[in-house]
Amino acid sequence: MPTDPNSRRQFLAFLAGSPLVAAAGIDTDWLATLSGSAQGDALLHAADALARHGTHPVLHAEQPPLIAKAADALDVFDFEPVARQNIPVAHWGYLMTGTDDDATIAANRAGFDRWVLKPRRLIDVSKVDAHLSIFGTRYASPIVVNPLGSQKGFHKDGEVATAKAARARDHLMVLSTVATTSIEDTIAARGGPVWFQLYHQTDWSITKQMVKRVERAGAPAIAFTVDLLGGSNRETMIREARKDTRECIKCHLGGAPLPGVSGRVDDRDNRRKPNLVGYEKLPPQLEKGTPTWEFVDRLKQATGMKVLLKGIVTEEDAALALEHGVDGLFVSNHGGRAENSRRATIVSLPEVLKGTGGRIPVICDGGFRRGTDVFKALALGATAAGIGRPYIWGLGAFGQEGVEAVLAIMHKEFELTMKQSGTTSLSQISMRHITPA
Ligand code: GLV
Repeated sequence: MPTDPNSRRQFLAFLAGSPLVAAAGIDTDWLATLSGSAQGDALLHAADALARHGTHPVLHAEQPPLIAKAADALDVFDFEPVARQNIPVAHWGYLMTGTDDDATIAANRAGFDRWVLKPRRLIDVSKVDAHLSIFGTRYASPIVVNPLGSQKGFHKDGEVATAKAARARDHLMVLSTVATTSIEDTIAARGGPVWFQLYHQTDWSITKQMVKRVERAGAPAIAFTVDLLGGSNRETMIREARKDTRECIKCHLGGAPLPGVSGRVDDRDNRRKPNLVGYEKLPPQLEKGTPTWEFVDRLKQATGMKVLLKGIVTEEDAALALEHGVDGLFVSNHGGRAENSRRATIVSLPEVLKGTGGRIPVICDGGFRRGTDVFKALALGATAAGIGRPYIWGLGAFGQEGVEAVLAIMHKEFELTMKQSGTTSLSQISMRHITPA
């Protein structure tokens, strides 16, 4: 933070014009008049931290005027307060929660500041092709619609609206095991294959039937989530649920969320989870303990689909994944809701890429909100970038139209970054285009 009075004044003027400061409800006129006071210093520290790390994911000081329609949004953050207004507070808590004090959510965002862009000039960028090719399929964008559960809890159309938006904008979509729409209906709404995110069941015979079912439905790939196997502590979710005056028990077995483990309301409550029901009652084959690499081998043997692991953050596990024939990875800390590692996924990405040696696709997720974030991940070597909360803000705010707008905004920002970097295809984006901050 500047101490010299002149640069201090310049910094104040910069902050006064910053949309983040305005978005946080800080009075910018007042900010501009502050100089030389201890109060000013404290505020500058706070505003500086805010400008770097973004607003607190759940608790905003004050909101700017809400956008009335998706087309009015300037960035993905514009959807957040509208969604928050529309979504029941307990469901909002489920969406926005991290673990413990949510520090890993902030770390994911802050991680992008470790890298800055090195734009290039005087290269013909009149034609840019930002399409993604993965496992032989082409999509219009490297921004992946990542799995996020229970979408009918955010908007009545749920995953169907998301799938239609993914279709309209031609993005890869991954459906959650705990979706409120079946894999079959999602593929129909997408008008083409979607990938399936897998939560294993304690009974292998059910997991196996689920895998076979999604394969039959036409999913070309499954992403087995491995980052919640020890459970996670979701305080924000529970705090927000306590504010909800509705009776949770009317919809959820077990009532309000309980502290501890995954924080789910009741793990046995599958009534609105169509991917978890309808299986044959076979003699149960109960898992011993939680999954290990042996389970990954079993999965590979059970299906002809590509098998990816979601939640890998170390070189060691990336190398093991290769040894076990895994087809791709998601570098992910579950949007800061696995362990509270305080380590950004963009920071884990290089070591995971070292472990894979570029032999399999690697998708990175966690805190992606801007086209520049996507660009940085691709420059580091990621194949694509996954988003979660931003498209749910779009969904909660305006349904399908909101999801489409979020995808369009982030992709437009990404293309702009490509052009300003002198790159006209994804393969041209490299470490030459970024540098440590
Ligand atoms: C499910 O994926 C969750 O994070 O609750």
